[in-house]
Amino acid sequence: MRILIFGKQGQVGWELQRSCSVLGMVKSLGSQDVNFLDGKAISQAIRDYQPTHIVNAAAYTDVDKAETEENIASQINGVSVGVLAEEAKVCRAKLVHYSTDYVFDGSKDGAYTEVDAPAPLNAYGRSKLLGEKYIQDVGGESIIIRVTWLYGKRGKNFFKTMLRLGQEKEELRIVSDQVGAPTWCRHVSDATARVISDLDFGDKTGVYHMTPQGSTSWSGFAEEIFGEVRKIKPSTVLKVKDLVKIRSDEYPSPARRPRNSLMESRKIEAQFGIKLPHWQESLRMVIDDID
Ligand SMILES: NC(=O)c1ccc[n+]([C@@H]2O[C@H](COP(=O)([O-])OP(=O)(O)OC[C@H]3O[C@@H](n4cnc5c(N)ncnc54)[C@H](OP(=O)(O)O)[C@@H]3O)[C@@H](O)[C@H]2O)c1
Repeated sequence: MRILIFGKQGQVGWELQRSCSVLGMVKSLGSQDVNFLDGKAISQAIRDYQPTHIVNAAAYTDVDKAETEENIASQINGVSVGVLAEEAKVCRAKLVHYSTDYVFDGSKDGAYTEVDAPAPLNAYGRSKLLGEKYIQDVGGESIIIRVTWLYGKRGKNFFKTMLRLGQEKEELRIVSDQVGAPTWCRHVSDATARVISDLDFGDKTGVYHMTPQGSTSWSGFAEEIFGEVRKIKPSTVLKVKDLVKIRSDEYPSPARRPRNSLMESRKIEAQFGIKLPHWQESLRMVIDDID
């Protein structure tokens, strides 16, 4: 196998380098190597390496900034993903790409399935949906995995923000009316390696949801982080005493976010045998691993 990874400095991209390294030769590229605003650079990188598999973890992920930069987000998450899919098809490489729960508006009661109709509430969601459509239009061998609420030790994420704020402030106001399933990015990369190692994914081409077991709100996630840090890492001095639950409209932000980010993961379990552990179990592993 010759695996080409895009987005090597990102949360998932970083982990992918480790998860994929046992499968064959791996080349990882970051934004300084290939800028997704330059379609020709993407084509050249793929032609030069002639991969058997491409994993795209590069994306414009600043949800609020995308509201004022939708053209840039659409180029990186949409048009360039189309270029990637075209090139993958030409060199007969299998493509794994990530999308998001933000393609949904969150109004459903219960978890979204792959057949539910997308209706993004914000520019980021629209740009990611565009990427999905380009891949589907090109029609090569591809797996699109929709993930949600990613976190880990690296990069910018809610978990790291809470760790920092919990050491700085006594009171934190956290949104409690959005539900989702916090997902360790290492589980995304390990599951991706499982997908790649399933050599015959031709007839499995399509969109898949992948979330851990269980669900919570942002405030529930924060409570669990602080509770587990106190148990597992008692040397970490947390100042935080009060977690005030607030509604989304009390925390104004440029982009609207779905109230319900829950996604049903039965399809990926049936097709690839992938079942992520409960989010609380993963959180304990991540906390155990922090310095
Ligand atoms: N984070 C979440 O909660 C979440 C939720 C649902 C879905 N997803 C999806 O999951 C995937 C992985 O997300 P993540 O959290 O790992 O993302 P991330 O940590 O924000 O990493 C994204 C990577 O994309 C790269 N990138 C940005 N602009 C680029 C450009 N113009 N050219 C080339 N590379 C560029 C960045 O490079 P630099 O580091 O050099 O800027 C960064 O390494 C993405 O498809 C994302 O949309 C994420």
